Amino acid sequence: TDGAAGAERADIGVIGGSGFYSFLDEVTEVTVDTPYGAPSDSLFLGDLGGRRVAFLPRHGRGHHLPPHRINYRANLWALRSLGVRQVLAPCAVGGLQPEYGPGTLLVPDQLVDRTKGRLQTFYDGVPRPDGTQSNVVHVTFADPYCPVGRGVALATAREHGWEAVDGGTMCVIEGPRFSTRAESRWHAAQGWSVVGMTGHPEAILARELEMCLTSIALVTDLDAGAEVGEGVSHAEVLAVFAQNIGRLRDVLFDVVARLPKERDCLCASALAGQDPGIELP
Ligand code: ADE
Repeated sequence: TDGAAGAERADIGVIGGSGFYSFLDEVTEVTVDTPYGAPSDSLFLGDLGGRRVAFLPRHGRGHHLPPHRINYRANLWALRSLGVRQVLAPCAVGGLQPEYGPGTLLVPDQLVDRTKGRLQTFYDGVPRPDGTQSNVVHVTFADPYCPVGRGVALATAREHGWEAVDGGTMCVIEGPRFSTRAESRWHAAQGWSVVGMTGHPEAILARELEMCLTSIALVTDLDAGAEVGEGVSHAEVLAVFAQNIGRLRDVLFDVVARLPKERDCLCASALAGQDPGIELP
């Protein structure tokens, strides 16, 4: 069951973060609605490396959605409804350890959820606007990211001469403010690697729809606890992202072309043995 057919379908989703508002040049713009509401923006579909890609700007074009107002459920549902089964999720993060300075690329293998009250399941057992209602499902999330996607992302970045960091924990804060120094020092003391605002609930929602998700974290700043300075500014985040967007896009182009077409990772059977009670798109 591979979702939609024809021009309005895709295999691979790319969710662009802060400073990342377009991916391919030749695209078909598709608006998608979902039982959870509207995604952050239209989806932009195009061909790349023998695969069909759907790009979605996470904050909307022009960055009008702060992290806590992004409709993560609609975003992941919309991607899956186009046929997407593998998602690449680049994002801007702050470095929590001094060795992860601006320009570091880190492919996390863990996350810690420090958000507050975000909707983090499709299966909450309450009626949806169309009247249908899911069962309750508990998904295994010990390893939140696709191991295959992580491997491809790391190998590809390194071939491009970018010494990507293999693994680490992304702490996801509620935002939209940055952390205080005390919060940041605390996050660092836990041994966490980087801090962002959007990595949760994106990864769990992908897993709940049996999609692979690979987070690709670009460090744009040292977080407040790791730096003796003014603290993080949004301008700094955007400036460093802008400096690195070219090579990040090049890496992502090759990652798309190299992701295996057949999936044998655990992501593909995340719901095995459980009945969500609603039809997945
Ligand atoms: N995104 C980019 N830099 C960040 C930081 N320092 N904290 C949280 N999210 C970020």
